[in-house]
This record gives sequence, C-alpha cells and structure tokens, in this order.
Amino acid sequence: MRLLKVKINNIRQIKKDVYLISFVSNYIAKKAHPGQFLHIKIKDTLLRRPFSIHNVDGKNIYVLFKIKGIATRRLANYKKGELLDVLGPLGKGFSFKGKGKYILIAGGMGVAPLYFLGKRLISQDFLKIVILGARTKKEILYDKEFKDLGYRVFVTTEDGSRGFKGRVDEQLKELIDYEREPLNLYACGPKGMFKSLALIVKEKSFIDMEFSFEQFMGCGIGVCCACVILTNQGYKKVCKDGPVFNLKNFDQNALDML
Ligand SMILES: Cc1cc2nc3c(=O)[nH]c(=O)nc-3n(C[C@H](O)[C@H](O)[C@H](O)COP(=O)(O)OP(=O)(O)OC[C@H]3O[C@@H](n4cnc5c(N)ncnc54)[C@H](O)[C@@H]3O)c2cc1C
Ligand code: FES
Repeated sequence: MRLLKVKINNIRQIKKDVYLISFVSNYIAKKAHPGQFLHIKIKDTLLRRPFSIHNVDGKNIYVLFKIKGIATRRLANYKKGELLDVLGPLGKGFSFKGKGKYILIAGGMGVAPLYFLGKRLISQDFLKIVILGARTKKEILYDKEFKDLGYRVFVTTEDGSRGFKGRVDEQLKELIDYEREPLNLYACGPKGMFKSLALIVKEKSFIDMEFSFEQFMGCGIGVCCACVILTNQGYKKVCKDGPVFNLKNFDQNALDML
C-alpha cells in the first residue's frame, strides 16, 4: 500500500451519473488484485472514499463510479491533468479457485470490481457466466464488455424492461436448479443481495461464494473500526479483512445481524 499523487489521464461519463476515470500508476498496476480498493481523497471533503479497482490495462488504472453524494459529485467534476490523492491498493480481494464453472453476479455498481476479476479469469477453461442486475435497462452496465471477454451474459431488471424480470438471486436460482458440479460464485452489491444469495447458496455444498461488501468506511486501513461486520469468527473489518468475504464466514446469526 502506498500514498500516491496520480495525474488523471481521462475522465468520461458512460451513463447517467456513472463515470470512468483513469490514471497511470506502475505501482498499483503491479500490486493490484481483483476485489481490492483505493481510498481516494477528493478535494474539499474530509474523509477519503473507497472505490474498487475496476480495471488494470498495462500501467493504466480505472475506477468506475456513480454519483451518490457530495464526494462522488465532486469527483465527476475533476478534469484531465488534475492530480488525485490515492491510497492503495487496500484490502483482501477475491481468491482464485481451481475447478468448476464461474458465475459473477453484479448488483448495480457491483460490476465495478467484477470486471477486473472477469478479465483475470479469462485464461480459465471453465464456463464463465455473468449476471448483471439493475432496477431498469438504462442502468445495465458492461454487458457488451463481458460478452467481448467471452462470458455468457444474463441481464436482469426489476421492472422487466430488459432480460429476466426480477432480481439477480432469482436468475441465479433458475440457472443452478439442475446444477451439481462445483461452482465458484463471485458477487458484489448491497447487503440485501448478499442475504438473498446466501439463502440460495447455503444449502448447496458444491457452491463456493465470495462477496465484496459495500460498507461505510473511515480510515480504510484497519484503525478506526467504522467498517466492522459480524462474522462467525467475531467482528471483522471490511477494509482490512475484506472487502471480500466467503459465505462460510457467516452463520445464520451473522447473516441476521447484517
Ligand atoms: C470497498 C468498497 C468499494 C467501493 N467501490 C465503489 C466503486 O467502484 N464505485 C462506486 O461508485 N462506489 C463504490 N463504493 C461506494 C462509494 O465508496 C460511495 O458511493 C461513496 O463513498 C459515496 O460518497 P459520497 O460523498 O458521494 O456520498 P455520501 O454523501 O457519503 O453518501 C450518499 C449516499 O450514498 C450511499 N453510500 C455512501 N457510501 C456508501 C458505501 N460505502 N456503501 C454503500 N452505500 C454508500 C448512502 O446511501 C448515502 O446516503 C465502494 C465502497 C466500498 C466500501
Ligand atoms: S474503515 Fe477504519 S477500520 Fe475499516
């Protein structure tokens, strides 16, 4: 982990309220692992904000973000050539498994860390699937990009405007109903999505699931305890012990406390 001042080499809007920002960093490019994040100091805000490493292409690092509040609105107004104060890479990312199919599940902006992971998995011979979920078709991101990587892409929208009408967990249930072979599931999204996926996956011993949590953070480096969640091994810091956790770390009590 290092504290870096990087120069923005591109920032562009790709959907309503969604932006892609890129900068060059040899250090992050060498160290970054899918699922890790950067803690970014945005001007005129007190606390840093966490953002997943979305893509690494040569020395270029990409962050995909959605405007939520004051900091992300300010970040969207940065210009090419401006300096960005970045701490990272931070946290523990996804682990790579051996056998089995891969299913990536993104709820909304959950696609941000999964694209980097998706790229790293393309060398694997097993079938690769991605489920991209959003409220409505206008919010679906990266369907073409995953297709280009060779993934089978399933789109779900809650209003049924595109693809499967419903939530990502309902689409998953349909896909794995007759499945018995080892499955590696990687997901990112809101906590409610984790709970719904857990309900399906808990009963199926052939599925291994890792989930990246979007938790409020303070320091981002394991000092302040602002980000703790209860697991079956006690309280864990999402910034340091995560943001990626295995479902095995959550018994029913821990799931109920989320
Ligand atoms: C490990 C990690 C990786 C993340 N990666 C990305 C990413 O790649 N792209 C991206 O767009 N966002 C990502 N987020 C969420 C991002 O950090 C928040 O959207 C951002 O901090 C909001 O700052 P703000 O000042 O604009 O909004 P605020 O004014 O702080 O908050 C506005 C609203 O956004 C929501 N919000 C704020 N922070 C979070 C949070 N940490 N988790 C969930 N909801 C939040 C709340 O509903 C809040 O009311 C990530 C969060 C974590 C913990
Ligand atoms: S954000 Fe401070 S310990 Fe995790």
